[in-house]
Formats: sequence, C-alpha cells, structure tokens
Amino acid sequence: MLRLEFPDDLLTGHAEVDRQHRMLFDAADRVLAVKQATRDTVVPALRFLLSYVHYHFGAEEALMDAIAYDRAEHHKRQHKMLREAAEAVKEAALAGEDLARVAARLHVLFLDGYVFHIRHVDAPLAAAARDRGLEGADALPPSGVLVQAGRLGPEHEGVDAPVTTGTPDVGIDLPAVTTGTPDVGIDPPAVSRVPDDGVELPVVADASKDSWIKH
Ligand SMILES: [Fe+2]
Ligand SMILES: [Fe+2]
Repeated sequence: MLRLEFPDDLLTGHAEVDRQHRMLFDAADRVLAVKQATRDTVVPALRFLLSYVHYHFGAEEALMDAIAYDRAEHHKRQHKMLREAAEAVKEAALAGEDLARVAARLHVLFLDGYVFHIRHVDAPLAAAARDRGLEGADALPPSGVLVQAGRLGPEHEGVDAPVTTGTPDVGIDLPAVTTGTPDVGIDPPAVSRVPDDGVELPVVADASKDSWIKH
C-alpha cells in the first residue's frame, strides 16, 4: 500500500505553516490508507483533502498579501497548478479511474509537486513571515476569516477545525503510519528536482498518460 509521511526535512521553522503542511500530508495519507478502498470511501477522503488544499493555499495567499510579499505572483501561480492537479486526481476518482492508479497519482503529486513547493517556495515565504514577526498561529487566518473576506468558498469553511477524533466520519480506518515501500505494483517515478528559485512546477499530466509528470 502506498503511504505518505511528512518528512522532517520539509519543516520551514514556522510552526503554523509546518502544522498545516503536516495536515496536508495526513489528509493525503488518509486517502491512501483507506482499507478495502471503494469509491464511496476514497472520494470523501479526497474531498476533505481538496478542501484543505483550498484552505491552506488561501491562508498562505492572505499571508502574502498581508506582508506585501514580493514573490506572491509566482507563488500563487504554483498554488493554482497544484490545486488543479489535485482536483484532477479527485475528478479521475469520480470518473471511475482504477483506485490503485488514483492512489499512485496522488502519491506522485505529493512526493513531487507538493514536496518541491514546500521546500523551495513555501520555505522563503515562512522565512519572510518570521522576519515580519508573524510567527504565531494567527499568521495564517482561519477558514471563517477567509470565507468572510471572499478568499475561500463557503463550502470549505470549517475544514481547519481541530479533529476531535482520530477517525474521520467517512468510514476510513487510520492505520499507524508506516514507512514501507509501495506495494500496489506501481512505482512512482524517482523524485529529482534541482532547487531553482522561480522555476515553474511541471504540469501534471492526464490520467491516461504513462508518465504523470511532464518535464
Ligand atoms: Fe505555498
Ligand atoms: Fe504551503
């Protein structure tokens, strides 16, 4: 089974940014961790993940605007691409794509696109926020504030609420996090990225392509 674990070397040093990144990885891992995966169990987990992606990106963009961040345009462009790539995975699941392939696409998207983004695009934003003294939990506004400001669709309000139980209400079991190798018979491509400030993310290709990441 494919799994995702947040690697410690992705920490930016900004507590709230790092907490939300862990949440993103946890939400993606929940999709992969669904036991006896069916569309009825995978799709709700994907919907939550997408909601959290929309929220987290909206919160970072509010932070960028608040500090007049000079790399905001490039950062927001990358958010748009990553959002669309994640939406494409969800749509593929809804359209009936084989669930093992859906899981593999999500795994690749996180190990490649999201890891790259956090390491090379979010880290400078986190440093800029710290330089401006915005280090606390209020550096990234809650979903309700973003909805009121028109930055987030009302359907996503509350997605950042603390999880009160260890198990989502979508019938998903949450096994202990493991670091085992994928065993669904699909090997994601090796992740290899050269840090390059300002570089664009690769386009995540259509499900029908053999390679999901175009270079
Ligand atoms: Fe970001
Ligand atoms: Fe981020």
